[in-house]
Parts: sequence; C-alpha cells; structure tokens
Amino acid sequence: MSEKMDNRVAIITGAAGGIGAASARRLAADGATVILADIDAKAVEAIAGTISGSHAYRVDLTDEESVQSLTSTVAERFGRIDILHNNAAIQNDAQRQKDLDVVNLDVAAWDMAMSVNVRGAMLMSKYVIPHMIAGGGGSIIHSASGFGVQGEATLTAYGASKAALIQLNRMIATQYGKQNVRSNCMVIGFVLTPLAIESTPDVVKDILLSHHLTPELGQPEHIANLVAFLASDESSFITGAAIPIDGGVTAHQPSYADFQKLFAAMGSGKL
Ligand SMILES: NC(=O)c1ccc[n+]([C@@H]2O[C@H](COP(=O)([O-])OP(=O)(O)OC[C@H]3O[C@@H](n4cnc5c(N)ncnc54)[C@H](O)[C@@H]3O)[C@@H](O)[C@H]2O)c1
Repeated sequence: MSEKMDNRVAIITGAAGGIGAASARRLAADGATVILADIDAKAVEAIAGTISGSHAYRVDLTDEESVQSLTSTVAERFGRIDILHNNAAIQNDAQRQKDLDVVNLDVAAWDMAMSVNVRGAMLMSKYVIPHMIAGGGGSIIHSASGFGVQGEATLTAYGASKAALIQLNRMIATQYGKQNVRSNCMVIGFVLTPLAIESTPDVVKDILLSHHLTPELGQPEHIANLVAFLASDESSFITGAAIPIDGGVTAHQPSYADFQKLFAAMGSGKL
C-alpha cells in the first residue's frame, strides 16, 4: 500500500459496477479509507469484501434523505470526506430498452437518467462539499461519457444527463475553487467492464476499436488511474476540466475509421 492518500476519506458511488470497483481498489491501494456506495447492497458488500480497509454502504441516489444519511454517517464515523467520485449511473438493460431516440423514448427513462446521473451527482456534491470545506478542501471527480459530447442514434436521456454532468462539474469548480475544493470530469469512452465484456458482441468491439487511436480498448484500471491522479495533490492545479479518456475516439475526424479501411483495401496504410 502506498502512503499517497493516507488519512484521506473517499466516497465512490456506483462502486458495485466495473469502473467504481476499480476506482475503489486503486484509491485503497494508494492509502485512502474507501467508502463504496451503491443501491445494490449485496453486490457492493461483496466488492468491499475484496478490498482491505474498505466499507460498503447502500445509497439510493434518487432519494435526497438517503444521500444525506450516507454523507452524515461517513463524516461522523470517519471524521472527514476528502474525495468524492460521482460515478453511479442507471444503465441496466431495462433502462437501455426504454432510453431510445427522442420520439420513441419512454419519458420515465428520461426522468430516471436525470434523477440518478445528474440529480444524484448534484445531491452527493451538495452534502459532501461542506465536509470538504471544513476539512480544508477536497477533490470531486465525475464519470461523464462521450455520449455527453457527441450525438448518437439512441440513449438520448443518458447522453443528455452526461452533458448536464459536464456542466455541473464546471459550476462546482467555479463556486468552491477558492475554498480548495476541485471538481473535474472524466469524459469516458467504451470500457471493458465485466458487464461490457459479457454484453458486447465481438463485432461491436471490432467496430469500436477501429475508431480508437490506441491499439487496445479501455480497461476499468485506465479510468482508475485518472481517478487516482485527479484525487491526489499531483493534480492540484487542475479544476473544472472535462478530460477525455477514450483511447482518442473523440480526437479525430469522424471519417478516420472509414479511411483506414479504404487505404487497407487499396493496399496502403497512408493518406
Ligand atoms: N463502461 C463504460 O464503457 C462507460 C463509458 C462511458 C461512461 N461510463 C460511466 O462510468 C460510470 C461507471 O460505469 P460502469 O460501466 O462501471 O457502470 P455499471 O452499470 O457497472 O455501474 C453503475 C452502478 O451504479 C449503481 N446505481 C444505479 N442506480 C443507482 C442509484 N439510484 N443509487 C446508487 N447507485 C446506483 C448500479 O447499481 C451500478 O452498480 C457510469 O457513470 C457510466 O455512465 C462508463
């Protein structure tokens, strides 16, 4: 265990999921006391059981009282809150099947995406920031998505919620920077979480990889590395940023993959 994060207390929401669990594992390895929070109590307890010195709590981010109770319990029990990873999102199968193009989406799916992905992150920030200020400062890290900056044929509510999260990040950074509370946003691309490995056909993975500038697709640990950096003092001059972490998918021309295919068919890898 490193001593980089010694005496720091971190809350990670959606910690039963692939990225949240990796973030928790990494912050714990860096020495932080890690609080894993999720609506799925059984799953988050199972993950906390594999991370020494971590603690599992159930929270429902759609419920203000539940958020308030989590944050006050953590502050009372551990004395401070230094790091918040706003990572939870509603993206199970039932939600995805209802979150379609604008004309066909189920309005309940829109409300649910906004409630968990943005309102939940706002509530966590609202109740954590006073503890951060009382402790001399803190770092908030949000899990946004490429769906919040680029259009897509489906997942309208998810995309709109992630765009709102990117702006919430700037508001928090602007409002509490002078009190030493930083806020940064990760604009995450496709990540091979256990769920994604199971639910993504190889043909889809190949299409996604053709749009990456890196040789491989992303892993949860890639995201956890950025969380660890943004949580640490090494990033003390970075706030209000929306950092793409997507293997370069949003860095290139939309025609990039098509041209690569065309050049390969022509027997040349060059422009
Ligand atoms: N995996 C990817 O490819 C990818 C890409 C871009 C962005 N992201 C973002 O990264 C984050 C984590 O992604 P993941 O793939 O690990 O997700 P995941 O679906 O595996 O985990 C999300 C977690 O949030 C929890 N959750 C849902 N509703 C909740 C509520 N009301 N209260 C508390 N917890 C709740 C779920 O139980 C789940 O454990 C999400 O915000 C996601 O949008 C992921």
